[in-house]
Amino acid sequence: MSTPLVGQAVDRVDGRLKVTGAATYAAEFSINNLVHGVAVLSTVTKGHINTINTTLTKKAPGVIDVLTYKNAMQLHFPQGSDPGQGKFAEKDLLPLQSDRIFYDGQFVAVVIAETLEQAQHGASLLQISYDKQEPQFDLHKNMDKAYKPAKGLGGSEVQVKRGDAEQAMQSAAVKVEATYSTPVYHHNAMEPHATIATWEGDKLMVYDATQSVAGSQGLLSQFLSMPKEKVRVISYYIGGGFGSKGFQWPNTVVAAMAAKLVNRPVKLALTRQQVFTTGGRRSQTIQNVALGADASGKLTAIKHASTVETSFVEEFVETAGVATSMLYACPNVDVSHSLVRLNKGTPCPMRAPGEAPGTVSLEIAMDELAYKLNMDPVQLRLINYTDIEPQKNKPFSLKNLKACYQQGADAIGWSSRNPQPRSMREGKYLVGYGMATATYPANRSKSSAKAILYADGHAEFMCATQDIGTGTYTIMTQLAAETLNLPVDKVKVKLGDSDFPQGANSGGSQVTASVGPAIRAAAIGALGKVIEIAIADKSSPLYKHPKENVILKDGKLVLINDNSRGESYTEILGRNNKPQVEAQATTNVSTRETQEANPASGNGGDASQKESEQNPAVQLDQAVDRKKYSFHSFGAHFVKVLVDPELGKVYIDKVVGVMDIGKVMNQKTATNQIMGGQIFAIGMALMEGSEYDPNRGRIVTHDLANYLVPVHGDMGDFTVKFIDQPDTIISPIGSRGIGEIGITGMAAAVVNAVYHATGIRVRDLPVSPEKLL
Ligand code: MOS
Repeated sequence: MSTPLVGQAVDRVDGRLKVTGAATYAAEFSINNLVHGVAVLSTVTKGHINTINTTLTKKAPGVIDVLTYKNAMQLHFPQGSDPGQGKFAEKDLLPLQSDRIFYDGQFVAVVIAETLEQAQHGASLLQISYDKQEPQFDLHKNMDKAYKPAKGLGGSEVQVKRGDAEQAMQSAAVKVEATYSTPVYHHNAMEPHATIATWEGDKLMVYDATQSVAGSQGLLSQFLSMPKEKVRVISYYIGGGFGSKGFQWPNTVVAAMAAKLVNRPVKLALTRQQVFTTGGRRSQTIQNVALGADASGKLTAIKHASTVETSFVEEFVETAGVATSMLYACPNVDVSHSLVRLNKGTPCPMRAPGEAPGTVSLEIAMDELAYKLNMDPVQLRLINYTDIEPQKNKPFSLKNLKACYQQGADAIGWSSRNPQPRSMREGKYLVGYGMATATYPANRSKSSAKAILYADGHAEFMCATQDIGTGTYTIMTQLAAETLNLPVDKVKVKLGDSDFPQGANSGGSQVTASVGPAIRAAAIGALGKVIEIAIADKSSPLYKHPKENVILKDGKLVLINDNSRGESYTEILGRNNKPQVEAQATTNVSTRETQEANPASGNGGDASQKESEQNPAVQLDQAVDRKKYSFHSFGAHFVKVLVDPELGKVYIDKVVGVMDIGKVMNQKTATNQIMGGQIFAIGMALMEGSEYDPNRGRIVTHDLANYLVPVHGDMGDFTVKFIDQPDTIISPIGSRGIGEIGITGMAAAVVNAVYHATGIRVRDLPVSPEKLL
């Protein structure tokens, strides 16, 4: 093989399109005859719609119609609960189907007009009266209504026990017990949710901002009771999702309903404020954590009881304790989750759902335990290190966390700090160092891809997955180009179209590990077809050689034992008058135990893959029983903060992250992903949090002026490092996902650094200045 492309810091293949504004986002397609919808959301927190008076609206210039529950078509309940198959965010609240109001900011109408301004004006004239009821929207005040949910998303376990944590806690030599809390967070993807829907006869075409074109297609077909083949969803470019576009929200199907009503294409783009209530959020959490250890620091008991909120229309569990049962060796563990239903917009996954807020409490508690033991926090983690997933009692497919701790500590100068709190200064600033562990599951699921290899030496790949801004286009191009021995600019990867072979949804950090092997298998399949043509071609130096003896080397198909005999595939295809060859491949491997595919069929069922299995130059999925392994990524964050003791302001001075995520596909995009996750977590630690009006339960911080997110000026020096060892058990490309792990543990590392700087232990996020004064 020629120079490896995978791993290189290749520039984003879509970078120029994005920075020049040429990349088309969902709301940006110019469609003939397009009209504009403006969403009208409820202004009460609980109750019923009493009257909707559309008279003034309908008289307003340009207004075409008003869609409400009174004239909306009937929707059918979708069956899916798996995001990969399409998951509607609010299973008990199909949009515009009744007069009931469950939260402030719920969809109640869409005004459709010729222009956006006319629709906005029409919406301002709409008169809706409500019968109000007394809402409950405060988590703390409604703790008595908490109940234990049976399962989490996709049937995951949310009540997990081993040993006897209660007993072990009582007899522990050293104990830490505390309550930690995180506020509501909003995703605030750069691009607010948006949809353009257009009907052609009985066919529906939708441009949607979604983390799953395939899921969105599936859901629309179920809602509207029409065959999947008649629904097409396009999402070529997405301005971030962070989980908010992983489930489908009302705007998508409502746009289709509105387009049907007026019989014209409708654009429905939510405003930033609207996304705050009808685009998901992360649940507030209240977490009680108890750690018990023996005098040497070995954990003997962990209890992690989380109370989180959901809405009245969906049972979504923010699984804050999900990492607690697997991160450290400990014989006695009790992880539980309780849910409280509130009259608030519905929560959903947000970047590292569960792990992000859950590692806040666990990793601060570990820091507290280290101080109680008078022990280095890194040492405490090493003492409790495990190579076996302790809850499932299975080895990890690959775990290099010790190296992460070591390299991170070295890079930040951990050993030269004075561990005594409030002991270090630089000028007027208090100096603090903190660290924490990062962890996130390594997910992989079934994916298909198609390859077309052209006689002129370029290639195209197609997969119905999508690039939500993470770099999927780029790394798949690298992988395809490397497999075909082509330069990057000769390979075009097409994503974001539900008509393509179905790939993974962009959730659970799974796209790289799921789609990568399918892209690679499709490339190998296409090469196999060229080889077949060559060995049947009298003029080819490969004529009549067994195809398993033919390999690709430096851009040529050559004999394995005589590399001088061979030719390029452009020569083969050209001479045989084959303008192109195609291959489609499916790799059917799941790392989720409940859905483990037959391990022996890990290479997928496609004929083109069988051909490629015979090519000794190609390494496909090992026929390994993945049920025997646990798949996780790990990492370590180290942070240095400066704290102004007079103002209570925390400055991020240095950040070091060392990640064990298998093989790095692209140094640049991978570094971006981790740094982005760390900055996301710095927001959690220091700034972010959505505030609700205590009288009416309406969100008041619903814009980027009031919901603070970190910006470049808030950041210090970042160093991101990777162990970069391929995980060959998860897949032949050796990569695990990277989109979410960067946020896990990081907020705790900041809080721990603030403690070291100030001696003040903050357990209620964010660490706002008044908490340090
Ligand atoms: Mo991620 S929160 O699984 O999109």
